[in-house]
Amino acid sequence: MEKTIFDVPTVTLDDDSSSLLIIDQTLLPGELKQIALKEQPAIHEAIYKLRVRGAPAIGVAAAHGIYLAAKALDMDDTADFAAEFLKARDYLKSSRPTAVNLAWALERMTRVMLEKLDEGVPAVKAALLKETLEIQREDEETCRAIGEYGLSLLKPGDGLLTHCNAGQLATSRYGTATAPMYLGHERGYGFHIFCDETRPLLQGARLTATELSSAGMDVTLICDNMAATVLKKGLVDAIFVGCDRVAMNGDTANKIGTMPLAIAAKRFGVPFYVCAPTSTIDPDTATGDGIVIEERPAEEVSDMWYRERMTGDRVKVFNPAFDVTDAELITAFVTEKGILKPPFDISLATVK
Ligand code: MRU
Repeated sequence: MEKTIFDVPTVTLDDDSSSLLIIDQTLLPGELKQIALKEQPAIHEAIYKLRVRGAPAIGVAAAHGIYLAAKALDMDDTADFAAEFLKARDYLKSSRPTAVNLAWALERMTRVMLEKLDEGVPAVKAALLKETLEIQREDEETCRAIGEYGLSLLKPGDGLLTHCNAGQLATSRYGTATAPMYLGHERGYGFHIFCDETRPLLQGARLTATELSSAGMDVTLICDNMAATVLKKGLVDAIFVGCDRVAMNGDTANKIGTMPLAIAAKRFGVPFYVCAPTSTIDPDTATGDGIVIEERPAEEVSDMWYRERMTGDRVKVFNPAFDVTDAELITAFVTEKGILKPPFDISLATVK
Protein backbone atom coordinates (compact mmCIF):
# COMPACT_ATOMS: atom_id res chain seq x y z
CA MET A 1 0.00 0.00 0.00
CA GLU A 2 1.17 3.50 -0.76
CA LYS A 3 2.37 5.49 2.24
CA THR A 4 0.46 8.56 3.44
CA ILE A 5 1.52 11.40 5.73
CA PHE A 6 0.19 9.30 8.61
CA ASP A 7 2.98 6.75 8.02
CA VAL A 8 5.83 9.28 8.10
CA PRO A 9 6.55 11.72 10.95
CA THR A 10 6.20 15.40 10.01
CA VAL A 11 9.43 16.14 11.88
CA THR A 12 11.68 13.87 13.91
CA LEU A 13 15.23 13.45 15.11
CA ASP A 14 17.44 10.59 13.94
CA ASP A 15 20.20 10.80 16.51
CA ASP A 16 22.13 7.83 15.08
CA SER A 17 22.70 9.60 11.78
CA SER A 18 22.75 13.07 13.40
CA SER A 19 19.92 14.20 11.13
CA LEU A 20 16.69 16.09 11.33
CA LEU A 21 14.13 14.16 9.28
CA ILE A 22 11.20 16.06 7.81
CA ILE A 23 8.51 15.55 5.22
CA ASP A 24 9.34 18.08 2.49
CA GLN A 25 5.98 19.85 2.47
CA THR A 26 6.77 21.90 -0.63
CA LEU A 27 6.35 18.67 -2.63
CA LEU A 28 2.91 17.80 -1.24
CA PRO A 29 0.46 16.56 -2.22
CA GLY A 30 2.20 15.24 -5.36
CA GLU A 31 5.11 13.54 -3.66
CA LEU A 32 5.56 12.26 -0.11
CA LYS A 33 9.29 12.51 0.50
CA GLN A 34 11.20 12.45 3.75
CA ILE A 35 14.45 14.38 3.64
CA ALA A 36 17.42 14.24 6.04
CA LEU A 37 19.02 17.51 7.09
CA LYS A 38 22.37 17.56 8.82
CA GLU A 39 23.95 20.97 8.36
CA GLN A 40 22.64 24.19 9.90
CA PRO A 41 22.21 26.02 6.54
CA ALA A 42 20.05 23.13 5.30
CA ILE A 43 17.87 23.31 8.42
CA HIS A 44 17.59 27.10 8.13
CA GLU A 45 16.66 26.80 4.46
CA ALA A 46 14.04 24.13 5.17
CA ILE A 47 12.31 26.36 7.73
CA TYR A 48 12.54 29.49 5.56
CA LYS A 49 11.28 27.71 2.43
CA LEU A 50 8.41 26.05 4.39
CA ARG A 51 9.64 22.51 3.74
CA VAL A 52 8.77 22.20 7.42
CA ARG A 53 6.19 24.69 8.59
CA GLY A 54 3.44 25.44 11.09
CA ALA A 55 4.33 27.02 14.42
CA PRO A 56 4.69 23.88 16.59
CA ALA A 57 6.54 21.91 13.89
CA ILE A 58 9.10 24.66 13.35
CA GLY A 59 9.57 24.83 17.12
CA VAL A 60 10.35 21.10 17.20
CA ALA A 61 12.57 21.39 14.09
CA ALA A 62 14.51 24.27 15.66
CA ALA A 63 14.98 22.34 18.93
CA HIS A 64 16.30 19.30 17.06
CA GLY A 65 18.38 21.64 14.88
CA ILE A 66 20.11 23.38 17.78
CA TYR A 67 20.74 20.01 19.43
CA LEU A 68 22.45 18.81 16.23
CA ALA A 69 24.50 22.03 16.11
CA ALA A 70 25.61 21.47 19.71
CA LYS A 71 26.35 17.78 19.11
CA ALA A 72 28.63 18.70 16.21
CA LEU A 73 30.72 21.09 18.33
CA ASP A 74 33.98 19.29 18.96
CA MET A 75 35.38 21.27 21.91
CA ASP A 76 35.83 20.92 25.67
CA ASP A 77 36.01 24.56 26.68
CA THR A 78 32.58 25.44 28.04
CA ALA A 79 32.85 29.18 27.29
CA ASP A 80 33.73 28.50 23.64
CA PHE A 81 30.95 25.91 23.44
CA ALA A 82 28.39 28.37 24.82
CA ALA A 83 29.49 31.10 22.40
CA GLU A 84 29.17 28.77 19.40
CA PHE A 85 25.82 27.49 20.65
CA LEU A 86 24.44 31.03 20.90
CA LYS A 87 25.65 31.81 17.39
CA ALA A 88 23.82 28.74 16.07
CA ARG A 89 20.72 29.69 18.06
CA ASP A 90 20.63 33.21 16.56
CA TYR A 91 21.11 31.80 13.08
CA LEU A 92 18.19 29.36 13.39
CA LYS A 93 16.05 32.01 15.04
CA SER A 94 16.47 34.26 12.00
CA SER A 95 14.78 31.72 9.70
CA ARG A 96 11.21 32.95 10.35
CA PRO A 97 10.16 35.87 12.56
CA THR A 98 6.44 35.53 13.36
CA ALA A 99 5.84 32.09 14.91
CA VAL A 100 6.94 32.45 18.52
CA ASN A 101 7.33 28.67 18.94
CA LEU A 102 10.63 28.91 17.07
CA ALA A 103 12.10 31.39 19.57
CA TRP A 104 10.36 29.63 22.46
CA ALA A 105 11.93 26.24 21.65
CA LEU A 106 15.37 27.77 21.11
CA GLU A 107 15.14 29.66 24.41
CA ARG A 108 14.15 26.47 26.20
CA MET A 109 17.17 24.68 24.76
CA THR A 110 19.40 27.65 25.65
CA ARG A 111 18.22 27.55 29.26
CA VAL A 112 19.15 23.86 29.50
CA MET A 113 22.56 24.56 27.96
CA LEU A 114 23.27 27.32 30.50
CA GLU A 115 22.02 25.29 33.47
CA LYS A 116 24.25 22.30 32.63
CA LEU A 117 27.34 24.21 31.48
CA ASP A 118 29.20 23.76 34.78
CA GLU A 119 29.02 19.98 34.35
CA GLY A 120 30.97 20.08 31.07
CA VAL A 121 30.21 19.72 27.37
CA PRO A 122 29.21 16.00 27.31
CA ALA A 123 26.64 16.62 30.09
CA VAL A 124 25.23 19.60 28.19
CA LYS A 125 24.86 17.53 25.02
CA ALA A 126 23.06 14.74 26.89
CA ALA A 127 20.69 17.22 28.55
CA LEU A 128 19.95 18.90 25.21
CA LEU A 129 19.04 15.55 23.65
CA LYS A 130 16.66 14.83 26.52
CA GLU A 131 15.07 18.28 26.23
CA THR A 132 14.54 18.22 22.47
CA LEU A 133 12.83 14.82 22.67
CA GLU A 134 10.69 16.15 25.51
CA ILE A 135 9.64 19.18 23.42
CA GLN A 136 8.47 16.82 20.67
CA ARG A 137 6.65 14.51 23.11
CA GLU A 138 4.87 17.44 24.75
CA ASP A 139 3.76 18.73 21.34
CA GLU A 140 1.83 15.54 20.65
CA GLU A 141 0.27 15.52 24.11
CA THR A 142 -0.69 19.19 23.79
CA CYS A 143 -2.45 18.64 20.47
CA ARG A 144 -4.47 15.76 21.85
CA ALA A 145 -5.61 17.83 24.84
CA ILE A 146 -6.57 20.71 22.51
CA GLY A 147 -8.56 18.16 20.50
CA GLU A 148 -10.53 17.03 23.57
CA TYR A 149 -11.35 20.57 24.66
CA GLY A 150 -12.20 21.61 21.11
CA LEU A 151 -14.47 18.62 20.63
CA SER A 152 -16.42 19.57 23.75
CA LEU A 153 -17.61 22.65 21.81
CA LEU A 154 -19.08 20.59 18.95
CA LYS A 155 -21.91 18.22 18.16
CA PRO A 156 -22.24 15.41 15.63
CA GLY A 157 -22.92 16.55 12.06
CA ASP A 158 -21.47 20.06 12.56
CA GLY A 159 -20.08 22.03 9.64
CA LEU A 160 -16.57 23.30 10.37
CA LEU A 161 -14.20 25.61 8.56
CA THR A 162 -10.45 26.01 8.85
CA HIS A 163 -7.77 28.16 7.26
CA CYS A 164 -4.18 27.30 6.29
CA ASN A 165 -2.78 24.12 7.81
CA ALA A 166 -2.84 23.77 11.56
CA GLY A 167 -2.93 20.03 11.06
CA GLN A 168 -0.77 16.96 11.57
CA LEU A 169 1.67 18.50 9.10
CA ALA A 170 2.11 21.55 11.35
CA THR A 171 2.73 19.56 14.53
CA SER A 172 3.98 16.19 15.72
CA ARG A 173 0.48 14.67 15.59
CA TYR A 174 -3.25 15.60 15.33
CA GLY A 175 -2.56 19.30 14.64
CA THR A 176 -4.17 22.02 16.70
CA ALA A 177 -7.16 23.34 14.73
CA THR A 178 -7.64 19.87 13.24
CA ALA A 179 -7.31 17.96 16.52
CA PRO A 180 -11.05 18.24 17.38
CA MET A 181 -11.75 17.05 13.82
CA TYR A 182 -9.51 13.98 14.16
CA LEU A 183 -10.93 13.03 17.56
CA GLY A 184 -14.51 13.65 16.38
CA HIS A 185 -13.85 11.56 13.30
CA GLU A 186 -12.56 8.68 15.45
CA ARG A 187 -15.81 8.92 17.47
CA GLY A 188 -18.16 9.04 14.48
CA TYR A 189 -19.18 12.72 14.64
CA GLY A 190 -19.52 12.98 10.84
CA PHE A 191 -18.32 16.57 10.48
CA HIS A 192 -18.52 18.47 7.17
CA ILE A 193 -15.28 20.35 6.84
CA PHE A 194 -14.56 23.35 4.62
CA CYS A 195 -10.91 24.17 3.93
CA ASP A 196 -9.85 27.60 2.68
CA GLU A 197 -7.28 27.06 -0.05
CA THR A 198 -5.06 29.73 1.62
CA ARG A 199 -3.38 31.90 -0.96
CA PRO A 200 -0.60 32.29 -1.86
CA LEU A 201 1.11 29.07 -0.75
CA LEU A 202 -2.04 26.94 -0.72
CA GLN A 203 -1.44 25.21 2.60
CA GLY A 204 -5.21 24.71 2.92
CA ALA A 205 -5.61 23.04 -0.45
CA ARG A 206 -2.33 21.17 -0.72
CA LEU A 207 -2.02 20.14 2.91
CA THR A 208 -5.17 20.40 5.06
CA ALA A 209 -7.74 19.27 2.52
CA THR A 210 -5.52 16.38 1.45
CA GLU A 211 -4.62 15.47 5.02
CA LEU A 212 -8.20 15.40 6.31
CA SER A 213 -9.63 13.63 3.29
CA SER A 214 -6.86 10.98 3.48
CA ALA A 215 -8.02 10.41 7.07
CA GLY A 216 -11.49 9.70 5.68
CA MET A 217 -13.22 12.99 6.56
CA ASP A 218 -15.79 14.80 4.43
CA VAL A 219 -13.85 17.76 3.02
CA THR A 220 -14.86 20.59 0.71
CA LEU A 221 -12.23 22.94 -0.68
CA ILE A 222 -13.09 26.62 -1.20
CA CYS A 223 -11.10 29.64 -2.36
CA ASP A 224 -10.44 32.08 0.48
CA ASN A 225 -12.85 34.63 -0.99
CA MET A 226 -15.73 32.13 -0.83
CA ALA A 227 -15.66 31.72 2.95
CA ALA A 228 -18.12 34.57 3.66
CA THR A 229 -20.62 33.02 1.24
CA VAL A 230 -20.35 29.63 2.93
CA LEU A 231 -20.87 31.27 6.34
CA LYS A 232 -23.84 33.28 5.10
CA LYS A 233 -25.44 30.11 3.77
CA GLY A 234 -25.33 28.68 7.31
CA LEU A 235 -23.09 25.77 6.37
CA VAL A 236 -20.60 26.36 9.17
CA ASP A 237 -21.24 25.91 12.91
CA ALA A 238 -17.74 26.75 14.07
CA ILE A 239 -14.39 27.96 12.72
CA PHE A 240 -11.15 26.54 14.08
CA VAL A 241 -7.81 28.11 13.21
CA GLY A 242 -4.28 27.81 14.54
CA CYS A 243 -1.97 30.64 15.53
CA ASP A 244 1.63 31.73 15.25
CA ARG A 245 1.75 34.19 18.13
CA VAL A 246 -0.84 35.25 20.68
CA ALA A 247 -0.29 38.58 22.41
CA MET A 248 -1.25 38.88 26.08
CA ASN A 249 -4.40 40.88 25.22
CA GLY A 250 -5.58 38.11 22.84
CA ASP A 251 -4.62 39.70 19.52
CA THR A 252 -3.50 36.78 17.38
CA ALA A 253 -1.15 36.40 14.41
CA ASN A 254 -1.99 33.57 12.05
CA LYS A 255 -1.78 32.88 8.32
CA ILE A 256 -2.78 35.80 6.13
CA GLY A 257 -6.52 35.63 5.54
CA THR A 258 -7.41 34.69 9.12
CA MET A 259 -8.46 38.23 10.07
CA PRO A 260 -11.02 38.68 7.24
CA LEU A 261 -12.40 35.25 8.14
CA ALA A 262 -12.87 36.37 11.76
CA ILE A 263 -14.61 39.55 10.58
CA ALA A 264 -16.98 37.48 8.43
CA ALA A 265 -17.58 35.08 11.33
CA LYS A 266 -18.64 37.98 13.55
CA ARG A 267 -20.95 39.31 10.82
CA PHE A 268 -22.71 35.94 10.45
CA GLY A 269 -22.64 34.90 14.12
CA VAL A 270 -20.33 31.89 13.72
CA PRO A 271 -18.05 31.08 16.71
CA PHE A 272 -14.40 31.72 15.91
CA TYR A 273 -12.02 29.51 17.91
CA VAL A 274 -8.23 29.86 17.97
CA CYS A 275 -6.48 26.63 18.92
CA ALA A 276 -3.38 27.67 20.80
CA PRO A 277 -0.73 25.57 22.52
CA THR A 278 0.35 27.70 25.47
CA SER A 279 3.82 27.77 23.87
CA THR A 280 2.32 30.08 21.20
CA ILE A 281 1.17 32.62 23.81
CA ASP A 282 3.96 35.16 24.06
CA PRO A 283 4.37 36.77 27.49
CA ASP A 284 6.72 39.33 25.91
CA THR A 285 4.13 40.65 23.45
CA ALA A 286 1.46 42.87 25.00
CA THR A 287 -0.71 43.51 21.92
CA GLY A 288 -0.85 42.64 18.23
CA ASP A 289 1.04 45.85 17.40
CA GLY A 290 4.17 44.22 18.79
CA ILE A 291 4.09 41.22 16.43
CA VAL A 292 6.60 41.23 13.58
CA ILE A 293 4.89 40.11 10.37
CA GLU A 294 7.02 38.18 7.92
CA GLU A 295 6.99 39.46 4.35
CA ARG A 296 7.82 36.92 1.69
CA PRO A 297 9.05 37.04 -1.92
CA ALA A 298 6.76 38.57 -4.58
CA GLU A 299 7.08 35.48 -6.79
CA GLU A 300 4.94 33.50 -4.36
CA VAL A 301 2.01 35.67 -5.47
CA SER A 302 2.86 36.46 -9.08
CA ASP A 303 4.55 33.33 -10.41
CA MET A 304 4.23 30.29 -8.18
CA TRP A 305 1.68 27.69 -9.34
CA TYR A 306 1.35 29.36 -12.78
CA ARG A 307 2.94 28.24 -16.05
CA GLU A 308 4.08 31.83 -16.59
CA ARG A 309 3.95 35.07 -14.61
CA MET A 310 0.25 35.86 -14.25
CA THR A 311 0.45 39.65 -13.94
CA GLY A 312 2.17 42.54 -15.70
CA ASP A 313 5.95 42.82 -15.40
CA ARG A 314 5.83 46.17 -13.62
CA VAL A 315 3.09 45.31 -11.13
CA LYS A 316 4.24 45.54 -7.51
CA VAL A 317 3.32 42.78 -5.05
CA PHE A 318 2.67 42.95 -1.30
CA ASN A 319 3.06 39.54 0.33
CA PRO A 320 2.67 39.52 4.14
CA ALA A 321 2.60 35.91 5.35
CA PHE A 322 0.44 36.59 8.42
CA ASP A 323 -2.20 38.96 9.72
CA VAL A 324 -3.31 39.89 13.21
CA THR A 325 -6.90 39.18 14.31
CA ASP A 326 -8.16 41.56 16.97
CA ALA A 327 -8.98 39.85 20.26
CA GLU A 328 -12.55 41.11 20.13
CA LEU A 329 -13.23 38.94 17.05
CA ILE A 330 -12.17 35.73 18.83
CA THR A 331 -14.81 33.68 20.67
CA ALA A 332 -12.33 31.63 22.72
CA PHE A 333 -8.84 30.13 22.75
CA VAL A 334 -8.66 26.36 22.96
CA THR A 335 -5.43 25.48 24.78
CA GLU A 336 -4.09 22.24 26.22
CA LYS A 337 -4.94 23.67 29.65
CA GLY A 338 -8.57 24.43 28.84
CA ILE A 339 -10.83 26.85 26.99
CA LEU A 340 -10.06 30.51 27.61
CA LYS A 341 -12.87 33.03 27.26
CA PRO A 342 -12.82 36.85 27.29
CA PRO A 343 -11.60 38.99 28.92
CA PHE A 344 -8.44 37.52 27.41
CA ASP A 345 -5.99 39.75 29.27
CA ILE A 346 -7.13 37.93 32.40
CA SER A 347 -7.73 34.39 31.04
CA LEU A 348 -4.46 34.23 29.07
CA ALA A 349 -2.49 35.32 32.11
CA THR A 350 -3.79 32.29 34.05
CA VAL A 351 -1.98 29.86 31.72
CA LYS A 352 1.31 31.78 31.29
O1 MRU B 1 3.46 29.89 6.87
P1 MRU B 1 3.01 28.67 7.60
O2 MRU B 1 2.50 27.61 6.69
O3 MRU B 1 4.05 28.18 8.56
O4 MRU B 1 1.77 29.19 8.46
C1 MRU B 1 1.14 28.29 9.31
C2 MRU B 1 -0.01 28.87 10.05
O5 MRU B 1 -0.34 30.02 9.93
C3 MRU B 1 -0.66 27.96 11.05
O6 MRU B 1 -2.03 28.26 11.17
C4 MRU B 1 0.00 28.17 12.42
O7 MRU B 1 1.39 28.07 12.31
C5 MRU B 1 -0.49 27.19 13.43
S1 MRU B 1 0.02 25.56 13.09
C6 MRU B 1 -0.59 24.57 14.35
